Amino acid sequence: MPAAEACPAETISGASRFLRACLRQPVDRTPVWFLRQAGRYMQEYREVRKHHTLVEICKHPELAAEVTITAAEKLGVDAAIIFADLLLPLEPMGLDFEFQAGEGPVVHRPLRSVDDVRALRTDRVGELAYVARAIEKVAAHFRGQLGIIGFCGAPYTLASYMIEGGGSRNYIETKKMMYRDTTAWSTLLDKLVAVLTAYCKQQVEAGADVIQIFDSWVGSLSLSDYRQYAFEASKRLVRAVQQMGVPVIYFGVDTAGLLGQMAATGADVIGLDWRQPLDEGWRAVGPGHAVQGNLDPITLFAPLEVLEERVHEVLRSAAGRPGHIFNLGHGIVPGTPVENVQAVVKMVKEAGTKGLRD
Ligand code: CP3
Repeated sequence: MPAAEACPAETISGASRFLRACLRQPVDRTPVWFLRQAGRYMQEYREVRKHHTLVEICKHPELAAEVTITAAEKLGVDAAIIFADLLLPLEPMGLDFEFQAGEGPVVHRPLRSVDDVRALRTDRVGELAYVARAIEKVAAHFRGQLGIIGFCGAPYTLASYMIEGGGSRNYIETKKMMYRDTTAWSTLLDKLVAVLTAYCKQQVEAGADVIQIFDSWVGSLSLSDYRQYAFEASKRLVRAVQQMGVPVIYFGVDTAGLLGQMAATGADVIGLDWRQPLDEGWRAVGPGHAVQGNLDPITLFAPLEVLEERVHEVLRSAAGRPGHIFNLGHGIVPGTPVENVQAVVKMVKEAGTKGLRD
């Protein structure tokens, strides 16, 4: 079928399609973007990385904007997520970190005591203004055509990096502080909420249309522990960002047992991972929220017919209900064929919102 017939002229901008879906308003077709759409799987990004470290790219607004824009345009998605990293706020709080090749982030002096937590600064968020400057450049480039997503880590997930000193399998140090030193834990989360709120405000004032809060490692918590130790701080952050006048996407991985409680933060959109069919996840989230997801990112390595089957499965599962944003259940990984990512965009565009309801 010729492309023009399969994919009729689009009637609204990517930005309004994406924003309308966040607010559960009807759209002409399901909006689509990808977690980690700018990254090492993309040749253009690897070229920039040959000359600059990850943190250098983040700290130079013209580079961060270029990487953001290139990825969004190459893929033809409806929204651009600003190129930055979850850990950037650690630096103005007084914790130095680096990205070591093959090992991910390493925090040099992880938090272990209430005194370490008390020493954290909350008054230097202004130092993160380079992210806002990059957002301004992206906004000036797209002029309202694509949605612009700002982001930050959720208090629990950032706390886990600050305490473990990097990624973790069992989160033992994090949970030790959480269970045994309630004062240190609640002081830490309070400080994170203060810093992250100010950081999001800079991003919104610079032109972010939506803020995504990444609680990537919240799936390490039982429902009881999430309720008792992490939920309130996330909820405060979600509400503070909504007060700024933008919708919030709240995302986590391995969250099947937590979805109802995550939705109770009041986030407009809940990000779903791929371990559960989208309709089941949406049922757990409840009807008052939009959902984002939830293709397994590794499906992008499958042959096109399998990929298409899975893309259609996600769309059928959403059944054209207002409030679905097509995405992956987690980020694109290095080595992913970029043409398969582009193929998914085409599949979502061609499917529209109709055709796949049953
Ligand atoms: O388009 C985009 O989405 C890219 C922008 C982006 C990056 N990090 C750049 C990055 C975003 C949204 C993030 C968020 C982020 N950072 C998260 C939450 C998202 C998720 O995956 O759950 C997390 C947990 C981090 C922390 C982090 N940063 C880790 C664990 C790593 C190492 C991963 C690895 O595979 O090495 C990073 C590094 C990182 N951040 C890369 C990119 C493109 C890859 C490293 C590089 O370019 O050197």
